[in-house]
Amino acid sequence: MAEPDTSAPLPATTANTHVHELEVAEVIRETADAVSLVFEVPEPLVPRFRYRPGQFLTLRVPSDRTGSVARCYSLSSSPHLDDDLIITVKRTAGGYASNWLCDNAFPGTRLTTLSPSGVFTPKSLDADLLMIAAGSGITPVMSIIKSALIAGTGTSYLLYANRDASSVIFGAELADMMAEYPDRLVVDHWLESAMGLPTAEALTERLWPYTGFDAFLCGPTLFMNIARSAMVTAGMAERHIHTEIYRSLTGDPFAEIVVARDDAQTPATATVELDGRRLELSWPRQTPLLDVLLANGYDAPYSCREGACSACACTVRAGEIRMLRNDTLVDADLAIGLTLACQSIPLTEHVDIAFDQ
Ligand SMILES: Cc1cc2nc3c(=O)[nH]c(=O)nc-3n(C[C@H](O)[C@H](O)[C@H](O)COP(=O)(O)OP(=O)(O)OC[C@H]3O[C@@H](n4cnc5c(N)ncnc54)[C@H](O)[C@@H]3O)c2cc1C
Ligand code: FES
Repeated sequence: MAEPDTSAPLPATTANTHVHELEVAEVIRETADAVSLVFEVPEPLVPRFRYRPGQFLTLRVPSDRTGSVARCYSLSSSPHLDDDLIITVKRTAGGYASNWLCDNAFPGTRLTTLSPSGVFTPKSLDADLLMIAAGSGITPVMSIIKSALIAGTGTSYLLYANRDASSVIFGAELADMMAEYPDRLVVDHWLESAMGLPTAEALTERLWPYTGFDAFLCGPTLFMNIARSAMVTAGMAERHIHTEIYRSLTGDPFAEIVVARDDAQTPATATVELDGRRLELSWPRQTPLLDVLLANGYDAPYSCREGACSACACTVRAGEIRMLRNDTLVDADLAIGLTLACQSIPLTEHVDIAFDQ
């Protein structure tokens, strides 16, 4: 592919090259309130839909009221096992998109989606993994477990909390995997109907043998808070705990990219390391870095474009930026120089940034 010409002025708006349409090939009823949607990816789009275990799709869900809403759904399929992409959606009580998908997605339904993204993914599939999931939080964890068993060498412990036996998604698949890999996978079910709500003390008791493992945690906020505090009490280092927070997007990541022109100020410059390449860019001072990259034709990772998901996280190596909004990076992230490309504007003449997450 020819290199984009970064010296040419940027167009004011640009079609969003991450946006694609996929057709639902199959709908699997997992439980009374959860479905899996299977997408076959057409050959020309295969490179666009390569993903890592734990990543998610961002779907545009049609709405008569607003035109559409954008929602993220983790892939429950494994890139090491499944040819198709599979997402698993659980109904949210009173929610819009999850219920729309459960009720209206059938084989043949075409849905608009962004390419996969997300950083809730193990650095190495050979690592020993501690996974804690509740309810639909099992979705990215399922992808990670399948991938680690098939393509990795480590052992995995999963603590999986649900209301009762009938709400366990992937129960049979997990039992099959445990039978096939008895030395490498332990699944510990926590059923609230029989055991009550999980407490930090009870979880600490279960988790301490696994504190040297790389931890992946996904579920409702209250559950995640309890599980995180149990992990820390059990002796696990915060930097080994990875979390995926489920929330609904409020903006429109499918919107065209608008580059803010400001003739009064000369643009800053940026050196950006992306996919093993070093790019030299002119950076209009009021335009977030992500928009500059996309407008130049570069495939920078993103999902929400509203500072909420951290898919666009990158490291500032030199120079200074300002984040317009940050709902996801914590102090420890900021301390090591992380920023969100979708919210970063330059403060210095030159900024050196790397997408190395
Ligand atoms: C990274 C990530 C991964 C995720 N993975 C999964 C997953 O694997 N499985 C899963 O089930 N969930 C997942 N989620 C959660 C998912 O994205 C949604 O937050 C969840 O499905 C709830 O969305 P909802 O629209 O049903 O509910 P809500 O967002 O609670 O719906 C209510 C909202 O919709 C609006 N609304 C109501 N009616 C309409 C209408 N007619 N038109 C337009 N708007 C309307 C309301 O104003 C309100 O803002 C994930 C989230 C993230 C961030
Ligand atoms: S794209 Fe989600 S935080 Fe930047």
